[in-house]
Amino acid sequence: MKKINVVASATVYDDVSELSSEIQSLMNKAIEARNNAYAPYSKFKVGVALLLENNQIILGNNQESAAYPSGMCAERVAIWKASSDYPGVKVKQLVITASSSNSMVDRPVGPCGACRQTLSEYEINQKESIEIYFMGEVGQIVKTESLLSLLPFSFDSTYL
Ligand code: THU
Repeated sequence: MKKINVVASATVYDDVSELSSEIQSLMNKAIEARNNAYAPYSKFKVGVALLLENNQIILGNNQESAAYPSGMCAERVAIWKASSDYPGVKVKQLVITASSSNSMVDRPVGPCGACRQTLSEYEINQKESIEIYFMGEVGQIVKTESLLSLLPFSFDSTYL
């Protein structure tokens, strides 16, 4: 028996002003996307903007349904839009923001487990890391260099 350490590294920024101007403008796109989310049930709006290697920016937001499990997270809406419209084009950066009409979201909101798994499929396929930035409505921003930091011991196609 031996214990191993699983290392997940991230950078934390205290304020959006610390981000590069490119990431700030991607964050502004994610905010636009967030404002257009369809989240009448949870009141929790999530917006995503991702940058492709061909410089296209793809937006996504969460879409809910009266039949609750039929909704979809912003991250998967965005990555599937990207893969559907630009198959095989690499994703360089992905930015996430969330807000709620119930209370101020003042902590970084990371992608849910299912979204991490889905995003990792595309990162593995493109053989290049996806930089991920996530925040709430205000406050700190977390940056990870790769899905690997968000999903240790992940499942992938090599098991099949
Ligand atoms: N949601 C996302 O869009 N992304 C996440 O990573 C976490 C949760 C959405 C799903 C649902 O519409 C609402 O937030 C509340 O869970």
